[in-house]
Amino acid sequence: MKFFNREKEINKILSIIEGEPNNIYFIYGPLNSGKSTLIREIITNRLDKSKYVPFFIDFRTRNILNVDNFIECLFEVDEKSKIDDFREYVKSLTDLLVGGSEEISKYYLGMPIKIPKPFFDKIFNKKDKSADVYQYIEYLFAKLNEKGKKPILIFDELQMIREITLNGNRLLLWSLFQFLVALTKVQHLCHVFCLSSDSLFIEYVYTTGELEGRADYILVDDFDKETALKFMDFLSEEILNKKLSDDEKELIYSYVGGKPILIIKVVDKLRYEDLKEILDQMLKEEIQKLRHFLKDLDYIKPRVNIEDEIIEINKEDIIEALRLFKDNYEISDDKIPKPVYIYLVKRNILFLNPVEGTLKPQSFLTWNAIKRIL
Ligand SMILES: Nc1ncnc2c1ncn2[C@@H]1O[C@H](COP(=O)(O)OP(=O)(O)O)[C@@H](O)[C@H]1O
Ligand SMILES: [Mg+2]
Repeated sequence: MKFFNREKEINKILSIIEGEPNNIYFIYGPLNSGKSTLIREIITNRLDKSKYVPFFIDFRTRNILNVDNFIECLFEVDEKSKIDDFREYVKSLTDLLVGGSEEISKYYLGMPIKIPKPFFDKIFNKKDKSADVYQYIEYLFAKLNEKGKKPILIFDELQMIREITLNGNRLLLWSLFQFLVALTKVQHLCHVFCLSSDSLFIEYVYTTGELEGRADYILVDDFDKETALKFMDFLSEEILNKKLSDDEKELIYSYVGGKPILIIKVVDKLRYEDLKEILDQMLKEEIQKLRHFLKDLDYIKPRVNIEDEIIEINKEDIIEALRLFKDNYEISDDKIPKPVYIYLVKRNILFLNPVEGTLKPQSFLTWNAIKRIL
């Protein structure tokens, strides 16, 4: 699939990268809005490769269970290396990365940070690992800076760390943040971007204040209507070799809105199915999902945990909250009691924008299902 548009977001992020690193940037937005795709596009096609070295750590594809394996996730262990003096290894690694060899193009496909096996094993057997880990990364980044290359550190689905943080290791996330602040605001050694679809995680980071003045937030939302219609033109040319009529495009938008993945699904199915059938089928499935969700509430007692307080929620309050969306796609978050919206966000029915203080369904499709059922 070819990449489409996002010029505004790309220019913003490239401008940030051209400046001196000062902040940790959180890229947030609804599920499947295109955050990861956008960052990958920038890394592979839009970055000046003579100036930057990106390191991409995707916590979703790496099974993160505890602190040890959080550390494993940061690295790609160089099994062949016999070097246990990390300074020596960093020297050869920076030479490789600066030399513009094969190695560097691999990095552009998004690699974690390389570390030599003997040194990694040495760290791993220690009780307190993070100090050495951070020291290694800092040293590597400082060397890259000396050679005129700015590292860019990207964490995708960073909220996965929060799970292990909740299991008795609250400090981990904050020690990571402290480290990232030191790398950006204090030493200006690298750019840091943290991506997450989990709006409760973004809210947690945003509201706890620990990062105040050291973090900034970039929304990557579903496409707006104008862009969504253009995306349909782009896809129909690509996939169907023909144009869609304005009515067809309006109809698609009214069902799935500007969520790229859903628009792709519709246009792709148009190769072998009728438009109205495709859309009705998608809506039917979404309605079924929501029905099941509501039915389950007759049997299970929904609960959320707010600052270690377990709070029970009534089905009626959930329904009442969803009813608010009958006439509005987006509402202020003070219209719904916090435990209720937290539950609906957790179940991926609503998206919370903690920066704006707004709530909306995760997609137009979900919105349409809400309107039909309630
Ligand atoms: N700008 C885009 N151009 C083309 N396809 C896109 C674009 N943004 C998203 N997509 C499609 O939507 C899917 C979901 O996007 P993704 O980046 O995984 O979402 P997120 O990381 O926000 O959850 C991608 O696999 C891709 O097919
Ligand atoms: Mg993603």
